[in-house]
Amino acid sequence: MSVLHDGYFTQGLDADPDLAAALRGELERQRDGIELIASENIVSRLVLEAQGSVLTNKTVEGPAYARYYGGAEFADAVEALAIERATKLFGCRFANVQAHSGSNANNGVFLGLLAPGDTILSMNTAAGGHISHGHPATLTGRDYRVAHYGVSRLTERVDLDEVRALALASRPRIIVAGGSAYAWTLDFAGFRAIADEVGAWLMVDMAHFAGLVAAGVYPHPFPHAHVVTTTTNKSLRGARGAIVLWNDKTLSDRINHGVFPGVQGSVMLHEVAAKAACFGEALRPEFRAYNEAAVANARALAETLAAANMRLVGGGTDTSMALVDLVNQGVDGDVAAKALEKAGLAANKNLIPFDKRPAEAPSGLRLSSNAGTTRGFGVDEFRRIGGWIARIAHAPSDAALIAGVREEVRALCRAHPIYPDM
Ligand SMILES: Cc1ncc(COP(=O)(O)O)c(C=O)c1O
Repeated sequence: MSVLHDGYFTQGLDADPDLAAALRGELERQRDGIELIASENIVSRLVLEAQGSVLTNKTVEGPAYARYYGGAEFADAVEALAIERATKLFGCRFANVQAHSGSNANNGVFLGLLAPGDTILSMNTAAGGHISHGHPATLTGRDYRVAHYGVSRLTERVDLDEVRALALASRPRIIVAGGSAYAWTLDFAGFRAIADEVGAWLMVDMAHFAGLVAAGVYPHPFPHAHVVTTTTNKSLRGARGAIVLWNDKTLSDRINHGVFPGVQGSVMLHEVAAKAACFGEALRPEFRAYNEAAVANARALAETLAAANMRLVGGGTDTSMALVDLVNQGVDGDVAAKALEKAGLAANKNLIPFDKRPAEAPSGLRLSSNAGTTRGFGVDEFRRIGGWIARIAHAPSDAALIAGVREEVRALCRAHPIYPDM
């Protein structure tokens, strides 16, 4: 008897109907629904193919051209390409493209630059910070002391006077700028001045606005940041994973060793290939046009919601993401997100600054134009989407309304198809 079943090297998903059905269902869900979740996007066929490539068979550890295992010549070429493109895209000297995820990138930097018990100063999650910046439920929250800044009650923006006062009081070893639900431009020079005053590193986690930075439509964290981390699957529109960027050669070993072996083992080379693919795409002039459109679309969405008496945290957005405060709508983010999902609109519930509600049923709804812009929606389409969101948020249990919007969503999606030949 053969050690392989028939079709092992030739059959694809046809060989596994149960799995195929679930994946087909996901493709249809993405095709027929509008994705408004800020951590998502719709990658190119090129990125999909790179992720599904034979590199998944190859194991390597360590940096390109200095691997622990042999047979790495093409793996090395792929990783070198990803590094070359990442550094070109973000105008910096060094990149680690191995981090499996944003949390691993952040953990790797902390491990490389901090000692246990050192203090991290970062944004609290209600103000928009990410849990990997020192939340008590994570390793970062266990191994380091954490101080959090928030936003001003008045402006709902970061108040650098507060950051400075907290830095002077807590003497952090690292200050983190950037988060998951903060829609405003950050003053990186101001953060750096505070970091210098207290002798801290400045780390910018640009996961949500990396694409905007690459496209030149958001301030650049360099030269202010000592180190920058980002996921590659949000506004960068690429592989699921993350990278770390820096300019000072003396940090290279600390950061690279923090990532490997610090927080992870062998490299997910298929993801590294997909990162190389997405950086190549982001270096094209069309990527700037995409990000400009994403910001214009998010503004149109925010304006439509505001005109429908929905309050935007901070009054709007500078980016491709906006945060809605539902307190005056008499509905929480959980109920609103579930009602929107029934209408084919995928958005996520979110804490808002000074939220009085729990994270499971918070007061906010986070919305993004990333994926819709990729499928070709412009401001007119985002105004229609804003109208649907407002109507459903005002009447989340109106089944007839939701069914009607579902049909309109489907029609809009069919007019902007994705992956037509799949
Ligand atoms: C700002 C920020 N940093 C880090 C992460 C973590 O990324 P991952 O989910 O890949 O660990 C996220 C995730 O959404 C994020 O928004």
